Amino acid sequence: MTEVNKQRFYKKLAVTGLAFTLVGAGTLGLHSLNFTGEPTVASAAAETYTTTANLNIRSGPSTSNAIVATVKQGTQLTSTEQAANGWLKVSYQGKTGYVSTQYVKESTGSSEPAPAPAPAASVYVATANLNVRTTASTSGAVMATLKAGTQLDVTAKAANGWLKITYQGKAGYVSGQYVRALAGMKVVSNPESIQVVVNKQNKLPENYVPKDLVYTTIPFTFKEQTEKKKMRSEAAAAIAQLFAGAKKQGVTLLGVSAYRSHATQSALFSSYVQRDGYDKAATYSALPGTSEHETGLGIDVTKGDGTCAAQDCFGGTKEATWLDAHAAEYGFIIRYPKGKEAVTGYKYEPWHLRYVGKPVAQAIKSKGITLEEYYGIK
Ligand code: DAL
Ligand code: ZN
Repeated sequence: MTEVNKQRFYKKLAVTGLAFTLVGAGTLGLHSLNFTGEPTVASAAAETYTTTANLNIRSGPSTSNAIVATVKQGTQLTSTEQAANGWLKVSYQGKTGYVSTQYVKESTGSSEPAPAPAPAASVYVATANLNVRTTASTSGAVMATLKAGTQLDVTAKAANGWLKITYQGKAGYVSGQYVRALAGMKVVSNPESIQVVVNKQNKLPENYVPKDLVYTTIPFTFKEQTEKKKMRSEAAAAIAQLFAGAKKQGVTLLGVSAYRSHATQSALFSSYVQRDGYDKAATYSALPGTSEHETGLGIDVTKGDGTCAAQDCFGGTKEATWLDAHAAEYGFIIRYPKGKEAVTGYKYEPWHLRYVGKPVAQAIKSKGITLEEYYGIK
């Protein structure tokens, strides 16, 4: 959307606000992104990219390489090739170096102004099961009840603390008491990338479903062929190799949960909120839209006897120790390591493996860092 169109769009929204104050530009920014359907993915074939943040160009394809130059948000970069881990080799003012695809988007055309970057937005979520009402008080009729963890399309804020939302195309109202604004949430521009960083600040696009999900061939703790046995094809092949490699060394593993649809993650997260409350649940379960299980690149595993599945007692077992030492050889990392809770936002999960490909997994393992630290992002 051009700047002019964007202003027109905001104006239109402001008119619909009337009795309500408009909330921060965050949600509106997200809204406008959906509205425009701007191109979001930087592919290997494209030649010109625009940076969506102030960005370091580095001498090699990771944050451990030296900074060659720092460019401002909105800078045009020409890409000559793409490194195996997805970083783009770019030229800028006669210099060459590498940038993460996390902060660039494919340019639309040479004569057009650079598209406005997606602003870091506040995302509004229900922290408990939440009634949507026809008016901004408990005397309004209940139109629907939303599960805890549901993202809300907030359009305005009433003086009494209630929020106006759009729900299934209709206006509705929810009590602000059970709504949390998560500041600085971004929508990832590279959901299809094997190295995508999905976490508490970087969510998947709405309705994202990986295109190449396949059933893994590994044994699970249960028999039925459900979505939980699926992974993206490259990750499915790699986990089969990991299980075979473990077996050769006398370590038997079972899958517990791999791919989870958005609906499954929503049901799971809200059930944990019911049990433990929102804040505690968020230390071990991802809000729908922010789980690696939704990428088809994550899998929880356990011991061959099926005990300690996704439980703390898995830590320190022979199987957990083997995974910690060898997962990277197969392209997996222990995504939520012990001692890195402040970085990942999650408690230690020795059972949660994330496929990132061998070069990145081995670099992360050898440095003892997280995926966030490797790419230098929050
Ligand atoms: N347990 C991890 C954080 C998830 O829910 O994706
Ligand atoms: Zn997991």
